[in-house]
Amino acid sequence: MILNTELEYKGNLFPSNITSYKKDVDVLHFSTSNNVILKLTVLRDSMLRFTYTTVGKFERDFSYAINEDASRGYNHLEINDDDEKYVVTTSKLICHIHKSDLRVSLYDAVDKTIICEDELGFHWEESYELGGDIVKMSKAAQNGESYYGLGDKPQHLNLKGRRFENWATDSYAFGKDTDPIYKAIPFYTGLHNGKSYGIFFDNTFRTYFDFCSERRNVTSFWAQGGEMNYYFIYGPKMQDVVTSYTDLTGTPELPPLWALGYHQCKWSYYPESNVKEITSKFRELQIPCDAIYLDIDYMEGFRCFTWSDEYFPNPKRMVKELADDGFKTVVIIDPGIKIDNEYSVFREGLEKDYFCKRADGPYMKGKVWPGECYFPDFTRPEVREWWAGLFKELVEEIGVKGVWNDMNEPAVMDVPGKTFPPDVRHDYDGNPCSHNKAHNIYGMQMARATYHGLKRYNYPKRPFVITRSAYSGTQRYTSTWMGDNVASWEHLQIANIQAQRLALSGFSFAGSDIGGFAEQPNGELYARWIQLGVFHPFCRTHSSGDHGDQEPWAFDEEIIDVVRKFIEIRYQLLPYLYTSFYQYSEDNVPMLKSLVLFDQDDAQTHYRTDEFIFGNQILVCPINEPNAKGRRMYIPRGEWYNFWSKNMVVGGKEMWVDADLDSMPIFVKAGAVVPRYPIQQYVGEKVIDQLNLDVYYKAGKEDSELYEDADDGYDYTKGRYSLKKFNLAGTEDKLIIRIHKRGQYITTYDTFKINLYGLPFEVKSIKVDNEYVDLKDVQFENNTLVVTKEFTNLQIKG
Ligand code: GLC
Repeated sequence: MILNTELEYKGNLFPSNITSYKKDVDVLHFSTSNNVILKLTVLRDSMLRFTYTTVGKFERDFSYAINEDASRGYNHLEINDDDEKYVVTTSKLICHIHKSDLRVSLYDAVDKTIICEDELGFHWEESYELGGDIVKMSKAAQNGESYYGLGDKPQHLNLKGRRFENWATDSYAFGKDTDPIYKAIPFYTGLHNGKSYGIFFDNTFRTYFDFCSERRNVTSFWAQGGEMNYYFIYGPKMQDVVTSYTDLTGTPELPPLWALGYHQCKWSYYPESNVKEITSKFRELQIPCDAIYLDIDYMEGFRCFTWSDEYFPNPKRMVKELADDGFKTVVIIDPGIKIDNEYSVFREGLEKDYFCKRADGPYMKGKVWPGECYFPDFTRPEVREWWAGLFKELVEEIGVKGVWNDMNEPAVMDVPGKTFPPDVRHDYDGNPCSHNKAHNIYGMQMARATYHGLKRYNYPKRPFVITRSAYSGTQRYTSTWMGDNVASWEHLQIANIQAQRLALSGFSFAGSDIGGFAEQPNGELYARWIQLGVFHPFCRTHSSGDHGDQEPWAFDEEIIDVVRKFIEIRYQLLPYLYTSFYQYSEDNVPMLKSLVLFDQDDAQTHYRTDEFIFGNQILVCPINEPNAKGRRMYIPRGEWYNFWSKNMVVGGKEMWVDADLDSMPIFVKAGAVVPRYPIQQYVGEKVIDQLNLDVYYKAGKEDSELYEDADDGYDYTKGRYSLKKFNLAGTEDKLIIRIHKRGQYITTYDTFKINLYGLPFEVKSIKVDNEYVDLKDVQFENNTLVVTKEFTNLQIKG
C-alpha cells in the first residue's frame, strides 16, 4: 500500500529552483535545476493544464479521456515575473509559479482571492518495484472547503474527510463506503468561500485522493505511475466547473427516446417462453416498458455472439415479435472469450492475434462465466474494429437494439485482485504498456468498440450501450449502471448518491439496479426504489436469479399500482427528460443536480445528500425508510409547487412533506413550463396529437426549454429538431409566456394544452400574439386552455 504520509516524507523528492522558462504560444515550460519540467498549457481562460516530468522529457501526449472537440481558446494571456515568481494571467485566473520550488497558487483574476494553492505541491517517489515514479500532488485545503465528484463512490456526497482509490473493481454486493468499486473517474470539485473549481487528474494508473483525511488542512492526489497530469478548471459556479469538465471529456449523442423509457432485466430470463411471459404481463397489467434484457444464459455456454439453440431456437423471430409489441431487446456481451477451438470468435481472435498477452508471451488466461477465457486487447484500434464488426449479425440480422457490456473492469474469477495480473501487456493505441496503466480504461475501450459496432449496424437508428466499468470520458459512448448493489434501504440511499455523484462527474446517463441486485426487496422497498429510479436518467430493474422474482407483479396489488403510477409519471415526463438529455448532450449540463450544484451560495446545501433536482426544475427527494408517511427534507431557496397538491411553498428551509407509499416528495420550481406526454405503454405507441404544458405561475421570470425531434435517427443533426425556449413573466394580474423557436422539425401535434397552476387572479382575458381571443375559442376551462403550437406570445390577464 502506498501512502502519502509524513512518515514517508523521507522518500519524497521535490523540484528545486526554476532555472529556465520557455513559452510556445499557449504552452509554458518551467525547468528546474534538478531536471523537473512543469508544462503549463492555457486551454481556456478558466482552464489550465499542468503536466510534470522528472526526467527532463515528457511522454507522448495521449489520453483516452479527452474529447477531441473540447472547446479551446482564451481572451487574454499575459506572463510576467518578479524575483519570486512567474505570474500567468488570463481573464479568469491568475497563476503564480514560485521560482524557488515550482509551487503553484491560483487566484480569481477579478477579486484576487485565493482559489487553490499547492501545499507541498508536486513531489514524487521513485518506485523500484513498479518502475517509474509515484507522482504526488498536495494542495492546501481552504477554510470550510467541501469536495464533490469522483464517479461512483458509495459514500457521503461530500468527500471531505475521506480517502479514495481509483481502480476499477468487480464488487459484488458492495456496501456503503466500499472503495474502490467499478469505475475510475479521477475528477473532483472543491468549493469554499462561494467559489468552486475542479481538478481532473488524467492519469489511468491506480490513483488515490485524500480530502483532508490524513491531514486536516491538506488535499492530495497521487498515482502509482505515469505523469502528474491534471487540468485545473475554475468556475466560480460549480455548474460551470462540471460543464467545463464534461465538455473536456465529452458527452454522448442523444439516445433513442425509448432508451429513456423503463427497462426490465433479470439474470436471466430464459427460455423464450419466459421472456414472452414477462413482456406480455407488462402489457396485460398496463405497466409501461420499453426494453427487455437477456443476461448471459441466452448464449451457448456463455460464448459471446452465440445463441442457445435450446432456449432461443429462432432469435430473429423472437426479437421481431417483441419489437411488434413495443419491446426493444438488449443483450449482454462480456469481454471474456471462451477458449474453444470450435468457436469462431475465439478462433478468429487467436488467428489474428487479438488477445491480451502476459509479459513473457503467453496469452492472458482467466476464468469468467464460460470457464477459461482469453480477452481482446481493446486498446488496439484493429481489435476494436474487429469487435465492432462482430455485432453485424446480432444487430443487423437479428434486430437487437442495445448491448450491455459487463465484467469489463476486467473481472476475473478465483484470482487475487479479481483482475489481470499487472504484467499483462496492452497496446494503448500505440503506447505499449502494462496492465497497471491500461486497467482503468479497459472497460471504456470495450464499450467504445461496442458503441461503434452498434452505431454501424443499427444505422440510421441510434445505438444504445450500457457498461459497468468506466473511466473519465466513457460517457461519450455509453450509459452505465452502478453494478451489483443489494436490496436494502441503505442501498436505496447509496443509489441516490451514486446517481448524483456520477452526474457531477460528467456521467449523467446512469441508474442503479432498481430493487437491488443481490437479495430480495419487500414490496415497500421495491416501490420506494421505483419512485427514485424513475427520476434517474437510466431506469432499469435488475436482479440476480438466486433471490426470487423482481417484476412489479412479484409484489401485491398495492405495490403494482404504485409502480405503475410512477412509471407512468416517467413516461409523461419523457419530453422534459429528453430536453434535459439534450441540454446535457449539447450544453454539457448535468441531468441531475445535487442541491450544492443547484445553489452553492446556500451553505445549507453543502452536506445535503437526499434531495436533488431532476433536469432543471423538478425537485425530488426519495423516501429512504420503511413505514414512512413522509419525511423532513430541505427545500432549496426560491418558490416551489408541490407536484401533487399544487400548493406553493417558499424554500430556504427544512420541512416535513407527507408521502404515503403511493407518493413521494416532488416539487416543481415556480415559473417552470413542464411538457407532458400522454401515458404510453412504450415510446411511439401513440402519435402525440397534443402536448400538455404544465405552467406554474411565478411573480417574476423563469425560462424553460423543450427539445423535440423524431425520437431516433440522425435527422436532428441536419436541423430537423425543434427547440422552444419559453420565457415566462408573471405579475399580480398578468402572466406572459413568450416562445422562441429554433430548428425545422415539425411536431406531430398542432396544439398545446396549457394547464395553469397557482394563478393569483381569475382569468378575464387572453391574448394570443397580441390579439384578444374568445375564451370559448381556446376552450378555456378550469385554468386550462388550448392554443396553437405556433404562438409566440401568450398573455393571460386577470
Ligand atoms: C454481473 C453483473 C450483473 C449480471 C451478472 C451475470 O454480476 O453485474 O448485472 O446480471 O454478472 O451476467
